[in-house]
Amino acid sequence: MQRNEIDLSGRVAVVTGGASGIGLAVTRRFLGSAAQVAVWDVGDVPSDLPGEVLRDRVDVTDLAAVEAATARVVDRLGGVDILVNAAGIADGTWVVQDYPPETWHRELAVNLTGVFHTCRTAIPHMLAGGYGRIVNVSSMAAKDGSPNQAGYVASKAGVLALTRTIAREVAEANIAVNAVTPTLFDTPLFRDWESRTPPEVSQWAASRVPMKRIGRPDEAAAMIAWMASEECSFTTGMTFDLSGGRAVW
Ligand SMILES: NC(=O)c1ccc[n+]([C@@H]2O[C@H](COP(=O)([O-])OP(=O)(O)OC[C@H]3O[C@@H](n4cnc5c(N)ncnc54)[C@H](O)[C@@H]3O)[C@@H](O)[C@H]2O)c1
Repeated sequence: MQRNEIDLSGRVAVVTGGASGIGLAVTRRFLGSAAQVAVWDVGDVPSDLPGEVLRDRVDVTDLAAVEAATARVVDRLGGVDILVNAAGIADGTWVVQDYPPETWHRELAVNLTGVFHTCRTAIPHMLAGGYGRIVNVSSMAAKDGSPNQAGYVASKAGVLALTRTIAREVAEANIAVNAVTPTLFDTPLFRDWESRTPPEVSQWAASRVPMKRIGRPDEAAAMIAWMASEECSFTTGMTFDLSGGRAVW
């Protein structure tokens, strides 16, 4: 029996946060599906990718930088068909009364305003091309909360609301806008958070996953690849669970 591969040939994809973790797995998966991929990240892109990518050092909090990078993608690759917002930070490990305002503002800026910037800039090109798929990486914590992460959780809940809103704005334009909500995934962000978090909190977080394990980035990339494909044609504004059964709604 022939395997039905996800075909992204002829598509141009931008992956923010594509240098590490879930975004890097998406970059690899998209290259394997024959997409042309641009990676926007503040970090270095690994050199062992299975294909060429257009690398750009972009801070998604900087609207002018996002606009300039978009212009480069359009100029070099011919348009923007797919946008995956995977760039994110999780710096907070304090209860809300101790939460540093600068951490709150930084998490909102990267995780939520960054998604606003890239969607704002990419959608005109998707409208011009008559096609678009946007996948925003939120978090399970946006649904059921996570102690000591007020800024992170609020930013990720905002991403779900923004996803639903943009989806309605472009629903008639062949542009699907959806979100994923990962639980704990084995990435540098998770390992860093775990190292800064009291063991009872991280053990409690892990215990909430019915499959009793954390996710692999390639598992997230598999779902995102389908969501970014033409086959995701009648679903928009939705949130796809990546939680090993932890989802509550
Ligand atoms: N790993 C988890 O357990 C988990 C759980 C839920 C949600 N998420 C979300 O998944 C996404 C990917 O996270 P990950 O776990 O792969 O983390 P990661 O740290 O491995 O990757 C995040 C990437 O985002 C980049 N980045 C950070 N700030 C940026 C900025 N201002 N502009 C551009 N790039 C920036 C980083 O350099 C990094 O390459 C994030 O949005 C994160 O919140 C992760």
